[in-house]
Amino acid sequence: MDQPRLTTHRCLHLSPWAAPAGSGTAKRALWLPVWTAVTAAAALVFPAPSSAASPTATLTIQADRPGPAISPTLYGIFFEEINHAGDGGLYAELIRNRSFEDGDKPDPWILVTEGQAKGEIAVVPDAPACGLNHHAIRLRIAMDSAREGVGRVGVANPGYFGIAVQEGGVYHLSLYAKAGNGFTGPLAVSLEDAAGKQVYARGEIGPLSCHWRAHRLSLTACASDPKARLVIAAARPGTVWLDMVSLFPAKTWKGRPNGLRPDLALMLAALKPSFVRFPGGCWVEGDRLQFAQRWKTTIGDPLGRRTQWDLWKYYSSNGLGFHEYLQMCEDLGARPLFVINCGMSHKENVPLEKMSPWVQDALDAIEYANGPADSRWGSLRAKAGRPEPFHLQYMEIGNENGGPAYQERYTLFYDAIKAKYPNMHLIADEWHGTPKSRPCEIVDEHYYHSPQFFMANADRYDSYDRKGPKVYVGEYAVTKDCGRGSLAAALSEAAFMTGMERNSDVVVMASYAPLLAHVHGRVWDPDLINFDSSRVYGLPSYYVQQMFSNNRGDVVLPATIRCRLHDKRVPAASGPQPKPLYAVASRRQASGEIIVKMVNVTGSPIDTLVDLKGIGGLEPSGRAIVLSSGSPDNRNSLDEPAKVVPKEQRLDHVAATFHHEFPAYSVTILRLKTRRQAELGK
Ligand code: AHR
Repeated sequence: MDQPRLTTHRCLHLSPWAAPAGSGTAKRALWLPVWTAVTAAAALVFPAPSSAASPTATLTIQADRPGPAISPTLYGIFFEEINHAGDGGLYAELIRNRSFEDGDKPDPWILVTEGQAKGEIAVVPDAPACGLNHHAIRLRIAMDSAREGVGRVGVANPGYFGIAVQEGGVYHLSLYAKAGNGFTGPLAVSLEDAAGKQVYARGEIGPLSCHWRAHRLSLTACASDPKARLVIAAARPGTVWLDMVSLFPAKTWKGRPNGLRPDLALMLAALKPSFVRFPGGCWVEGDRLQFAQRWKTTIGDPLGRRTQWDLWKYYSSNGLGFHEYLQMCEDLGARPLFVINCGMSHKENVPLEKMSPWVQDALDAIEYANGPADSRWGSLRAKAGRPEPFHLQYMEIGNENGGPAYQERYTLFYDAIKAKYPNMHLIADEWHGTPKSRPCEIVDEHYYHSPQFFMANADRYDSYDRKGPKVYVGEYAVTKDCGRGSLAAALSEAAFMTGMERNSDVVVMASYAPLLAHVHGRVWDPDLINFDSSRVYGLPSYYVQQMFSNNRGDVVLPATIRCRLHDKRVPAASGPQPKPLYAVASRRQASGEIIVKMVNVTGSPIDTLVDLKGIGGLEPSGRAIVLSSGSPDNRNSLDEPAKVVPKEQRLDHVAATFHHEFPAYSVTILRLKTRRQAELGK
């Protein structure tokens, strides 16, 4: 139960004068010139709207010269147990510290006494079942026999920063209880406001005996309150032990038991991710090996799972465990990408000669996910209600691990997995360079940086070695100069994403990070989706992710931009530099539809001639989906969740060459139907 200190995370937060820790020397050469060029041009990047004549641009698209195919897995999501993304967030459990494993104190449980009754609570080594849950809470109740039945003594739990109850909502309570010292129940259960003045739902549990027994109760709330609490109390003297006190809304996403909070899951579904990377991140590594993620402790009855200290400063119940992640992927229509600890934590590594159980974990994870229902690990999946395989095809060996120790461990995992599962796609960490000890199919690069960095690196992949490993941009986000996530950040990421899509023969997967944050449990800024107990909003960056993912073509069409603003005002400089416009064009093969993604990072609308070369014929009507707002600093919030959201417009003037004005500070998707498409009725 000791609580380790959080170490500084090791992601790529570059300072202007230093190469990222752990970046390879080949990369290092790039960083300094990039930044220097960017700084020189930075003042031009987001100029205030001017009344001067609008600049003009030409976007030329070679519709008859298709380039590389766009990877069908390009846009995905990365889920990490950070910022209460899972516990207190996506995982619909409403009770925090339900199994009393979060330390020596019962926090956030508190003692509640009313009237003259007295009580005492303590975490004690006791539990209703074996497994990895070793503690329970003991409640001692003292009361004058003359006053029995008057007042109450109990325990209250506020959930994760308040339990959101909804009028008419049904909540399933389950718990284990036993009693002693003459107490046999009943226990009064209530959902009430934080001060205990108003009761929204009540019920009773009992009788209790001196043996652990499971109890269940359904509660229906008569009012809504985003900050309610659960109280379990008695009005007679004696002793009560409780464990695994769980409260689940009857409504989970897709009705899954032990499932997900629907509004947050719907935000994920709206991104239409092709894959989900899980469960981390540094969370996989742990600060020390004892806190490393081991998937085997996260399966089976949640009662027996390991409660685990998370270096992101809270305990995880692992209620959202390996099985639930796989189920979530399937429900999202996304491929699972499991990140396995490779025997390395932030502060220590497993000695090489003791690595075999860690490597075996990887093989067993694949068997759990994909193996026959009568295999050793596949049978546990079947026991959990899922005899069919989950089709796990992607596994990442470690997270942000590098150096010689990583190379050695990568070799062990690579050899063992490929020997048994030759078709498994393995992803290597790009940290201190690409591992050389074994082949690398895909490497995971991470970028957290300024808006200028992302704009200046929109061309980054144009020159990547086509014979080298494929790239998974596993984590990226503007983290500088954008507060809690602004439109400016979203525009810069969009600029970068045009480069990833244009080079999707190299960049085969990408995911923004982090994905989710409870606004009262946030340890990292910014985060794509933010929520409290009952509300949710997406950053402008969320809508960029959604726009790119929901508007995918199959092949890149070469596109070039000429922009007068750019030609005149941006000084010639060597190396990449921010530009006013960024674009990528693609085509859907079945319908022939052309999809243009255009980013205008300037404060002026840009009147653009769209020139489609070699196009057979276009329907005059098309669609534009536009994300824009008056200021690049604009952002969304719980109170204003839709301040910066995309809007759709009809286009009536589409032709092989037509004018379109791309608004100031905007990301625009143009969807242009070909005649053939109209004939096909698509
Ligand atoms: O996304 C937050 C953290 O950044 C991840 O846990 C880690 O992989 C990176 O350092």
